[in-house]
Amino acid sequence: MLKTMKNIDSYTHVRGESLFVDDIILRQDALFGLCFDSPCAHGKIKSVDYSKAEALDGVEKIFTYKDVLGENQIGGIIPDEPLWAEDEVHFWGQPIAFIVAESEAIAKKARALITIDIEELPVITTAKEAKEKESFINAPRSFKLGDAASVFSDCDYVYEGETFSNGQEHLYLETQGCYAIPQENGTIKIISSTQGPTQVQKTAAKVLGIPMHKIEVDVIRLGGGFGGKEDQATPWAVMAAVAVQSLNRPVKYILNRHDDLRMTGKRHPYSSFYKIGLTKDLKIKAFEVEFLQNSGAAADLSPAIAERTLFHATNSYFIPNVSSTVFSCKTNLPPNTAFRGFGGPQGMFVIESAIADAADQIGVNRRHIQEANLLAENDEFSYGQIATQVEARNSWFTAKEKFDFDQMEEEVIAFNKANKRFKKGVSLMPIAFGISFTNTQMNHARALIHIYQDGSVGVSTGAVEMGQSVNTKMLQVAESVLGISASKIKLETTNTTRVANTSPSAASSTADLNGKAVEMACNALIDRLTKLASKTLSCEENTIAIHDDFVFVDGKKSSLSWEDLIIQAMAHRVALSENAHYATPKIHFDKTKERGHPFAYHVYGTAITTVTVDCLRGRYEIDAVKIVHDFGKSMNIGIDLGQVEGALAQGIGWMTMEEIAYGADGRLLSNALSTYKVPDVFSGPKTIETIPLETEGHELAIKKSKAVGEPPLMYGIGVYFAIQQAVKEFNPNYKLEFHSPFTPEKVLMGLYQKEG
Ligand code: MTE
Ligand code: HPA
Ligand code: MOS
Repeated sequence: MLKTMKNIDSYTHVRGESLFVDDIILRQDALFGLCFDSPCAHGKIKSVDYSKAEALDGVEKIFTYKDVLGENQIGGIIPDEPLWAEDEVHFWGQPIAFIVAESEAIAKKARALITIDIEELPVITTAKEAKEKESFINAPRSFKLGDAASVFSDCDYVYEGETFSNGQEHLYLETQGCYAIPQENGTIKIISSTQGPTQVQKTAAKVLGIPMHKIEVDVIRLGGGFGGKEDQATPWAVMAAVAVQSLNRPVKYILNRHDDLRMTGKRHPYSSFYKIGLTKDLKIKAFEVEFLQNSGAAADLSPAIAERTLFHATNSYFIPNVSSTVFSCKTNLPPNTAFRGFGGPQGMFVIESAIADAADQIGVNRRHIQEANLLAENDEFSYGQIATQVEARNSWFTAKEKFDFDQMEEEVIAFNKANKRFKKGVSLMPIAFGISFTNTQMNHARALIHIYQDGSVGVSTGAVEMGQSVNTKMLQVAESVLGISASKIKLETTNTTRVANTSPSAASSTADLNGKAVEMACNALIDRLTKLASKTLSCEENTIAIHDDFVFVDGKKSSLSWEDLIIQAMAHRVALSENAHYATPKIHFDKTKERGHPFAYHVYGTAITTVTVDCLRGRYEIDAVKIVHDFGKSMNIGIDLGQVEGALAQGIGWMTMEEIAYGADGRLLSNALSTYKVPDVFSGPKTIETIPLETEGHELAIKKSKAVGEPPLMYGIGVYFAIQQAVKEFNPNYKLEFHSPFTPEKVLMGLYQKEG
């Protein structure tokens, strides 16, 4: 068993001493950057007049695509995104130039002096319109299991419908930012708030036209990323690096909140169309779905996100005949990007909507359909992976039993009978989320461990700490394998010169991938030290164990302490550093067949949500969310419960109140916290109760402690359907709509919707 511990950052966090990019003391010759971005969503740039801005005292230089010595290209999956716009702009907020000045205030003044002449072109803001106009990022993808089209005719019930789920702003507390510093011989060090240091390094090298070894990226920690800094931390860092390359002076660029909201992409809105076929006993026999992903103006991570939507299109249900297709639709919005769940939530919302629609029309409770179709051992996912160690039913029935669902439901029925103005709704929401980057080749990580000659230890990995507490988990792994106290171990910053070629910290896989590498490196060190101890103490290797800062022989504490052992190692010239590489075994996926075994394992769980709707005002309160979650054998339940609650809050926000609005002209209307509402202590659930499901865990999870970062977000989807049930309870004429977020305005309209 691992020892649990508090987040190792808690002490400095609460004292305000933790360092973020913005806290770095600047070199005295440092300059400040600021983007000049497009004031319209689509158009041809006819001319830009920088002369007044350039003439301003304190403006050092204004950079445009013309100043790029390498390639003006930052697209990761598809090279379709310039760092700075050239002749055309494709979204409101697209970077056109980069002002570098003596202070932020001067840069801001200069920005206001730039004038631009743009010939505006037609703007597409919705995925549906993009599809009509055949405006796509890439070719559509389809997954197929069985033969849905031909099975519908055998079904007793067949329903079709449409859903929409809106985007979501990441709202990381720390906005995007970086600080780039010239080193010697054209080398540049970039301190970046990124989930993907290697992505920053690689892209900077490409744009600057220099080898990757001339770019060092260092990440201390992030004030939240949530996917928003997987790809979209890169442009700012690269802009600063371009400026450093030219000026040979440090450049800092931290986006202010307005600029960040306007210029960065968000969770993808989806418009989707489903057809669901069931038999009399409520078995789902066939499911057809078409997803229109609003990708924005460039690919960014959209193709990977679209893929994950397909992977999760059937959530935790077994459906024998599935046909799913996703279109990445090119629009004139900022390129949308990764957001906790990575397209999975959008997929799951559609199957849950289809089930709600079917239940409503058949006249049964939604949960009967859910329960009749839960995934079982050896069922096949629509992409060919066979489900094993399935906890779908286990978590569902455990939740019903532990939280006394029958009693809860009776109370809701009684309440609704007794009350006219207030109505309650209750929903169950099962989840199944695949763990691994869907792109198999990204599932690897490395760790570099140094034992210093005083016995203290430094651990470097590719993991980026963004509040999810991955550093604490890495420390726990090192502590348990090395058998020394936590105070001897330090987690280093994430740095591309210590750990290279990393995948971003994402896909909930950071702890698994990097933790396994830490485990391997520590094991290799312990092997060497055990050999040394056996020589020093003249006993067999297999009698030796190292724990509690001492060497034990046959279970008895020897005179040899950890520190003494390390002194011996130095004396005998034993290597005290180790580098390990881990690559997830067993996973594979064939994109030409759209089949394989892409996930190391799945995470399961079930949430029961109760809400109360004020049927006069359309307002609602979330009474409780009660969850049974599959942590495997959690290595740190405090941290993991925090992840569940944080993800749930984000899921609820996405489903209920966070309403991104763009005008028809492509301008972001919800461009401040006064117009974009996120959950707070008042709007969150009054009770959140999470019970760990008792399971064996999974061997591919670090210490059998399953990945936890993203899966619980999807419990938030349950809130939508609980509210919907309450609305229906009040207004039997309400025709179910699947259009999230379910804002109080929409609730009110549903409550008073007339027939027809
Ligand atoms: N938790 C906090 N506090 N801050 C974050 O930015 N990101 C989430 C999740 N939990 C995030 C978070 C996302 S999107 C992912 S993919 C995972 O953490 C990444 O970390 P992990 O792989 O270590 O779980
Ligand atoms: N999840 C999160 N981020 C990613 C993935 C994924 O599956 N693939 C590429 N980036
Ligand atoms: Mo998380 S969306 O994979 O960064």
